[in-house]
Amino acid sequence: MSLMDNYGRAHDDLRISVTDRCNFRCFYCMPEEGMTFLPHDEILTYEEIVRVVRLTTELGFTSYHLTGGEPLLRRDLDELVRQMFEINPKMDLALTTNGVYLPEMAKRLYGAGLRRVNISLDSLDENKFLLMTRRNVFKQVMAGIEAAAEAGFSPIKINAVALKNLTEEELPRFARWSRETGYAVRFIEYMPLDADQSWQREKVLTAEEILEGLSSEGELELVNGHPSDPATRYRYKDGKGEVGVIASVTRPFCETCNRIRLTAEGEIRTCLFSTVEHNIKTLLRGGATDEAIKKWLADVVRTKTPGHLIGQKEFVQPDRTMSAIGG
Ligand code: 5AD
Ligand code: SF4
Repeated sequence: MSLMDNYGRAHDDLRISVTDRCNFRCFYCMPEEGMTFLPHDEILTYEEIVRVVRLTTELGFTSYHLTGGEPLLRRDLDELVRQMFEINPKMDLALTTNGVYLPEMAKRLYGAGLRRVNISLDSLDENKFLLMTRRNVFKQVMAGIEAAAEAGFSPIKINAVALKNLTEEELPRFARWSRETGYAVRFIEYMPLDADQSWQREKVLTAEEILEGLSSEGELELVNGHPSDPATRYRYKDGKGEVGVIASVTRPFCETCNRIRLTAEGEIRTCLFSTVEHNIKTLLRGGATDEAIKKWLADVVRTKTPGHLIGQKEFVQPDRTMSAIGG
């Protein structure tokens, strides 16, 4: 069985934000100063998260992502990973991290069964990295990527947010790096989820422009992937290197969306751009039965709207930034 919405989309993917805190201040995600974070007791415990994972698994979910904020700021994340695999050893589980704590954590996470990691890295240039993340830790992130590779993670995916007048010259550099290392580099179109509400359509480096830039390193061919994968993947025709685009703005993939989100404080969001949330924490802490929560989840999925309206005049930017939603 699977959770269907009113537009015929079956849902089997849950993205779990385990914390709203982050040690970076990426300008497209957080303000430079003045972030306030949730108090500890507002955040779902591992026990509560594991219950949501079990109930969604019973509802047919097979794919899970752990995100934040920065998920590795949460203590003993490998313990959560282990408990999730106990629910379903075949679960497709991935972690999205900024990579700074991977030198310490990569082996432990691998030991807990995790195999897939997505690391955010916006630039291969140390200064540009600092400009975008507002943190001078480029070398730590590179060490984190190496630690993940050494621990045995595969695939290793690199996420870079693509911006006009910033990312263009990164494209050939990232392409060559992918061809040398085998990491899949995916460029994400800049979305209106920033704290300063300074997003403008003109600042988006589009998938078309990204692909043109990447083509300078060789001819690309499409890789057939999972239909609900938001990334469109390409490989170089000589077989070396994989790149991709996540074209949320210029080619929305809402029609094949199979995911819902759980925020760190226990709200279910049916879309990144939702302006309403559904509080599951009250049910978890209020003694609701498994059956009641499963029925509630099925009802929540049926409230999902057909798609986002980025770029249209009806679009309303959600109050929360990406760090508070969980990419
Ligand atoms: N637009 C596009 N991507 C974003 N991310 C965070 N904020 C934005 C935004 N406004 C990305 C991060 C990370 C992923 C979880 O989401 O860089 O790779
Ligand atoms: Fe932190 Fe990720 Fe947001 Fe950057 S994009 S501030 S790494 S949560």
